[in-house]
Amino acid sequence: MAFSITPLPYDDTALAPAVSAQTLSFHHGKHHQAYIDKTNAAIEGTDLADKSMEEVIAAARGSNQGLFNNSAQSWNHGFYWHSMAADGGSASDELAAMIDQAFGSADELVKQLQDRGAGHFASGWVWLAEKDGKLSIEETHDGDTLADSDFNPLLTIDVWEHAYYLDHQNARPAYLKAVTEGKLNWAFASENLARGTTWAYPA
Ligand SMILES: [Fe+2]
Repeated sequence: MAFSITPLPYDDTALAPAVSAQTLSFHHGKHHQAYIDKTNAAIEGTDLADKSMEEVIAAARGSNQGLFNNSAQSWNHGFYWHSMAADGGSASDELAAMIDQAFGSADELVKQLQDRGAGHFASGWVWLAEKDGKLSIEETHDGDTLADSDFNPLLTIDVWEHAYYLDHQNARPAYLKAVTEGKLNWAFASENLARGTTWAYPA
């Protein structure tokens, strides 16, 4: 069965001015859609056609770079849309305690997400992730993903230029500041932590 693009879980103006409706129209409607379309085209008629997105990613990793890139990017973008919200809310007590333990404070976590995102060379993703009961910030390059890793990803931020160029031009730190200070979906992060297993791309 072919994969569908995950609908935006909010109105297209909900994230402005951090991420505008114009950016979402291209990023969701063009970029993410293209990754989905290319994934579907690559698996059609193969034994991967009835697998989950996570199974497709794992099967393609190291053996089919084109399919890996498109399926991993399909997953990453679906996860990214849910990683943001109009009102980011607050972390569960469990997540808040783990943030304090790992980073000292929520403000320090936000600062480190901004610094890691700004320092990430070229295209990629910055993640808040959990493994063995500990939180860490992880980075993946280009289309790489934590979807098939030992980490349980809690949140991600897209640091490809297409995520911010229309709104912030080359000022990636301004985009990171705008997203991390009010638009990160802490309820989603808390749900991912409480579930204890990696978010599944909708079948
Ligand atoms: Fe993107």
